[in-house]
Amino acid sequence: MRKKRAVVPGSFDPVTYGHLDIIERAQAIFDEVVVAVIENRAKNQLFDLSERAEMLRDEVGRWPTVSVDTFSGLLVEYMKKERAQIIVRGLRVMSDFEYELQLALINHELAPEVETFFLAASGRYSFLSSRVVKEIASYGGPVAEFVPPKVEARLKKKYLLERG
Ligand code: PNS
Repeated sequence: MRKKRAVVPGSFDPVTYGHLDIIERAQAIFDEVVVAVIENRAKNQLFDLSERAEMLRDEVGRWPTVSVDTFSGLLVEYMKKERAQIIVRGLRVMSDFEYELQLALINHELAPEVETFFLAASGRYSFLSSRVVKEIASYGGPVAEFVPPKVEARLKKKYLLERG
């Protein structure tokens, strides 16, 4: 039987416990999971591509079938290159739905062999996003509940440097 290879794409700026929850559940379903960090050109990232990938690698080591990679350009092109047919995305609140459905439909239109698989975010992470984590950290607020200790330390360092 062909192995089921799934890709969990995202900005991961930075990775949160919400992302890790989705990755953990994906690796329990699929044979292989590639966490693909996008080199967003349009978006303003707090962490550069290598930092974002490094933070993920620090966390996913506990799951032997999960690897971390980076990509730029269209996701479906990356999927073809990687010979992967499943995109895994987490859905948190209703406001995610419209954007995620559009993304899934466009990707399927561009590459009919590619399917998007949605996982409902666990209740305790349904409010969590990298954006709110960065906002809290930027004011010196507590983020230990939302991100792993190494990510928390990097956030502190970034914002301390920014404040000068
Ligand atoms: O973590 P994010 O920022 O919500 O992830 C969004 C991501 C990376 C999955 C999405 O922006 C994406 O796939 N970008 C690559 C460009 C692409 O293929 N877009 C879809 C067709 S318009």
